[in-house]
Order: sequence, then C-alpha cells, then structure tokens
Amino acid sequence: MSVMDFSSAATATQASVLTLSHVTLALGARTILRDVSFSVGPNEFIGVLGPNGAGKTTLMRAVLGLVKAAQGDIRVLGEPVARKGRGNPSIGYMPQTRSALAHCHVRGRDFVAMAADGHRWGLPIARGRTRADVDRALELVDARALASRPLSELSGGERQRLLLAQCLLGQPELLLLDEPLISLDPNHQRGVIELVRRVQRELGMTVLFSAHELNPLLDALDRVLYLGNGAAALGSVDEVITAPVLSRLYGAPIDVMRVHGRIFVMSGGVEIDKADHEHGHEHGHGHEHEHKHPHPRDGGQDA
Ligand SMILES: Nc1ncnc2c1ncn2[C@@H]1O[C@H](COP(=O)(O)OP(=O)(O)OP(=O)(O)O)[C@@H](O)[C@H]1O
Ligand SMILES: [Mg+2]
Repeated sequence: MSVMDFSSAATATQASVLTLSHVTLALGARTILRDVSFSVGPNEFIGVLGPNGAGKTTLMRAVLGLVKAAQGDIRVLGEPVARKGRGNPSIGYMPQTRSALAHCHVRGRDFVAMAADGHRWGLPIARGRTRADVDRALELVDARALASRPLSELSGGERQRLLLAQCLLGQPELLLLDEPLISLDPNHQRGVIELVRRVQRELGMTVLFSAHELNPLLDALDRVLYLGNGAAALGSVDEVITAPVLSRLYGAPIDVMRVHGRIFVMSGGVEIDKADHEHGHEHGHGHEHEHKHPHPRDGGQDA
C-alpha cells in the first residue's frame, strides 16, 4: 500500500474538511500520487512537504478540481470536488508561481479587489459585498498601509500579505498555500508563518501550507503531510519525520537528526530540505529544474 496515515480511527470519523479516498493523480503518462487516502480535520495546520516534483502542487490543484483524479474520491467539506469544480468558494488558494507580480504596477487594494470582482474563480460576487470583503481581508493581514502602493514597489513579504488577503475573500474554510515562503529571507518567512497561523486561528480555517523546509514550520504545524514516491504520509512530526518513513518516500536511505529542537533530514551526508530550499531561492518556481537530490521515481511505484 502507498498510504501511511497515522491518524486514529476517531479522527477519521470526525467532520472532515478534506478527505482523499484511494486517490490516484496522473499528469500525462506520469502517476504523481497512487492510491492515497487521508483525512484533514477542522482548524488543522498541515505542513505539506516532499522533494521537488513529489506532487505538492498537483495535489492542491486536484483539491481545487483543476486536476481530475484518475481514480478515487476527493471531498471538501463532504462534497466531491468534481461537482463544484473551479468555483468552490470554500477554498482559498495561493498558487506557487507568482514571479510576475514583481513587475505588476496595480495598487495593493485593486489587486485584492480584482479577485473579489470574480477574477479568482470566474465566480460573480455581489458588488456591494466586494468592498467590505476586500477591506476585511486587508485588515486581517494587516495590509491597509499597503493598499495604495503598487505591487512592484512592495517587498516579497508585503506582496505575500496581499496574496493572503486575496485568499481570504469570501471567507473560505480551507486555505491551500503553495510555497508561501519561497524567496523570502528567514525573518520574513517567520512573519508569513505567524500571520497565517494567527489568521487561521482567528477565522477557524484548515490550512495546507507547502514548503521545502520543515524547521521554520515546526512551531506552527499540527501535522505533516509528506509526499514522495507516489505515496503520502500524514501524521505528527514524530510519526512522519523518521528514517523508515522518509526512506520509503524518497526511495533512498534517509537519516533524520535532531539537534537543539531542529530536525535535519539527510541523504548521504547532505541535508536535503536545506538544499532544496536554496534551490527554491534560485529559481523560485516551476518544474523545469534539475533534481540534485533523491526524488520520487517516475511513475510513483509503491515503496
Ligand atoms: N503536464 C504535465 N505532464 C506530465 N508531468 C507533469 C506535468 N506537469 C507537471 N508534471 C510533473 O508532475 C510532477 C509533480 O509536480 P508538482 O508540481 O506537483 O510537484 P511539487 O511537489 O509541487 O514540486 P516543487 O517542489 O518543485 O514545487 C513533477 O515531476 C512534474 O514534472
Ligand atoms: Mg510545487
């Protein structure tokens, strides 16, 4: 089997925000995830980890209905995603590719409002509600001071706050944040994590937060969803970040070292997620780069 779900039977029977049952995701001829099942509950902050190409982005797109599951069933708040498709207002999504925003001269407020006006999902939202919703979202992420400034003049961390404001429009119950830490320095990374955590608690949302490095997320996350080799492991850090589980997900021998509260995932003496993270800094996004470290074998065979 290709699923390692450490959640207890009790968790599975609780009201679930996101449930995958025997889901297989394929892109072209490639199987990205095979027969994956897990369930995420209300108010959980889930760190989504895994090497480049493991399927973090593909999973989020599948939850949105943008990638159709080849097999199995994906449910958001009990509803199959296929039925709601792109217009699911219960989900806020921050996509991974956002380099173009650095050259965008739109003002912060207009950028957030663009999404409220329906550009986010092609979903019409009543005009009267739009303005109040935009104000509320800007307020939540403490970005009112950014509202009148063009995106091109903002720092990466400030743009990230506006992107998060966009995600919060329409009061979603599930946030899918794809690599919000990429190209931010450690200080801004901490700021983004704290902001997401605060807003999540205030609004009572479930968050899937993908990242290349585990350590910055350690204090924030409730559980880890680790993807690799076509499989997924969901559980506490102690359950998932272990040599046997990660060796299986990477398809290579992995060592896990804990030093002063930090966790180092090593392959052949090289720290994996740190190297991946630097990698993210160089290129920012996309899949067109070379893999320098163990990554899932093509086709996602069971380990
Ligand atoms: N249209 C496509 N056809 C075939 N394979 C694809 C297609 N698009 C993406 N892939 C592959 O799917 C795999 C999963 O990609 P995905 O973007 O979900 O990974 P990821 O975990 O988000 O990686 P990263 O950490 O680099 O963001 C990659 O190996 C990628 O090359
Ligand atoms: Mg990705």
